[in-house]
Formats: sequence, C-alpha cells, structure tokens
Amino acid sequence: MTKTVRSLKVLEDPFNYHYPAGATIVTSHANGRNNAMAVAWHTAISRNPALYAISISDKRFTHELIMESGEFVVNFMPQEMGDLVAMVAGCSGREVDKFRAFEIESSPGSEVEAAVLTRALASYECKVMGRHPYGDHDIFVGEIVAVQYEPSAFGERGRLDLERVKPILYVGGDWYSTAEANSFYLDRAALIERAKEGSPTPRS
Ligand SMILES: Cc1cc2nc3c(=O)[nH]c(=O)nc-3n(C[C@H](O)[C@H](O)[C@H](O)COP(=O)(O)O)c2cc1C
Repeated sequence: MTKTVRSLKVLEDPFNYHYPAGATIVTSHANGRNNAMAVAWHTAISRNPALYAISISDKRFTHELIMESGEFVVNFMPQEMGDLVAMVAGCSGREVDKFRAFEIESSPGSEVEAAVLTRALASYECKVMGRHPYGDHDIFVGEIVAVQYEPSAFGERGRLDLERVKPILYVGGDWYSTAEANSFYLDRAALIERAKEGSPTPRS
C-alpha cells in the first residue's frame, strides 16, 4: 500500500477528517442561559475517577458559559437527531436561543444545571476539574458526576446495541455517518497466542 504523505507546515485543508468521530452535543448553563453546541473533539481520559475531556475554542459561547459555571453535559445523539447536531453547530448562542429556536427537549441535570437532552442515548454530567489551553482550543477536563442513559439503547455491560440504535458520527465538513450493526468480537489473548505460534489470523 503506497500512502500519501502531506507536510502539515502549511495548513490548507483540515487535517482531522481522516477518521469518523462521534458528533455529540455539549450543553452548558450560566446566568440563566442554556446553550448547546456540536462537539466532535471529545474523549474519555480516566476510568477512576471517571474523567471526560472536550476541546472547545475560546470563540464559542459555550466556552464562556463553561468558564462561568464550571459545568457541562456531553450528550451522545442518535442518527435521527442529526438535524439538531447540524443546527446547534451552525449558529452561536450569542445570537440565538437555540433551545427555543430549535425546540430542544431537555431537563436540568441531576447534579449540574446544564441540560440533559431528552433524545440523547446517554448524557455525561460533568464538573470541570481543569482547563488546559492547546493551540487554538482549550481542553476542559470534566469529572463525570452522573450518567443518564436510555436503557433500551444499551446491552451487555452497557455497550451500545447497534441492532437497535445508530449513533451519529461526524466525517467532516457538513457530512455525517453512522455505525452499522456488525459489531464483532475479537479475543485478544487468543489472537496474541496465535501470532506467537507463528500462525497469525489472516487479514482479508
Ligand atoms: C460536527 C461538528 C463538530 C464540532 N466540534 C467542535 C469541537 O469539538 N470544538 C469546537 O470548539 N467547535 C466544534 N464545532 C463548531 C461549533 O459547534 C460551532 O462553532 C457552534 O456554533 C458553537 O456554538 P456556541 O457559540 O453557541 O457555543 C463543531 C462543528 C460541527 C459541525
């Protein structure tokens, strides 16, 4: 396989569209204002304590509200809520009350005031334990203080049941995708054992 190599010294195109990311909606609340924005740059970073990180530009109204309140909620959305993801990504809460304009159904979190979206498959209620500036974004590290989820969307050990629900993924620009219901099981120990024996599983 011959790969295309590109120097990133000159940043013409986005560099980050090579792999899909979950398109979440991050909600925030301060000074009587609720806001929602699309966030693709997010990840779990610790199991115990449970920590979740989001990367937010300081240009976003959300940034201001999180700085003010020290709280946010990460809402994991199904594919059919793609329109809402695109709409909350397309305007700023500085100009639009997105909850009113887009009739977003929600309730306050159980441990934070930021909103838990009714149509989210799962929502992580977070309290900020640190903010770290990197490049043109700030990483907010949140301690997950409560999780709300739709039980029918999850199966064994809390894994998303892709037979029943489809998560919304972001592939760049204004393009979205989803994960199909073909999860497969890989036995790490058995695979390593076979590789050690010199008969690795063939890749098709
Ligand atoms: C799918 C998608 C994902 C996005 N992810 C991020 C992100 O991770 N961090 C960020 O700062 N902006 C991200 N954005 C841009 C914000 O969602 C957008 O600027 C939004 O209008 C900010 O709203 P606010 O000013 O009300 O906070 C994303 C946009 C899209 C379309």
